[in-house]
Amino acid sequence: MKHIILSLGLAAFAVSPYPVFAESTFDKVKVEAGETLFYSECRRCHAPDSTDPSYGPPLDNILGRAAGTVEGYEYSEALAGSGIVWTPAALRAWMEDNDGFMPGTKMRHVGIEDRTVQDFILAYLGNISAQ
Ligand code: HEC
Repeated sequence: MKHIILSLGLAAFAVSPYPVFAESTFDKVKVEAGETLFYSECRRCHAPDSTDPSYGPPLDNILGRAAGTVEGYEYSEALAGSGIVWTPAALRAWMEDNDGFMPGTKMRHVGIEDRTVQDFILAYLGNISAQ
C-alpha cells in the first residue's frame, strides 16, 4: 500500500507543471514565518498598514521606498535626511544594527543578526509592499 501511495505521489509530481518544491509554497511559508516574527519584533511600534497609526512609521510599501517619507510622521533628522532607499540590503543592515547603520535615529536598537530571521521578515515586508 505504501508503495502505491508513493508512486501516485511521484506521478503527481511528474505531471505537475511546478518543481517538486514549488517556489510559491516555499515563499508562502517564509511570508508566514515573517509575519509571526514581525508581530513579535516590530509590531509594537510599526503597523503593516498606513491607516493604523502607531508609534513608528507604517511599513507597508517599505521595499523600494525612500527613507523618511511617510507624510505626517515626525522622523528624526537623521532618518529624514538620510537620502537612502529601502532595499533588501539596507533593511538587513537596519535590522542588524539600526543605530550603528544610522546614528541619530530615534528607533530603539534592534539587533536581529540571524540572516534567516532577516530573510523571513524581508519576505513578509516584501509581501506587504507588493501591491
Ligand atoms: C521600540 C519601537 C520600535 C521597534 C520595536 C521597531 N521599530 Fe522600526 N522604527 C521605530 C521608530 C520610532 C522609527 C522612526 C525612526 C526615526 O525617525 O529615526 C522607525 C523606523 C523604521 C524604518 C524606517 C521607515 C521609513 O519610513 O523610512 C524601518 C524600515 C523600520 N523602522 C523597520 C523596523 C523593523 C523591520 C522592525 C522589527 C524587526 C522594527 N523597525 C522595530 C520604532 C521601532
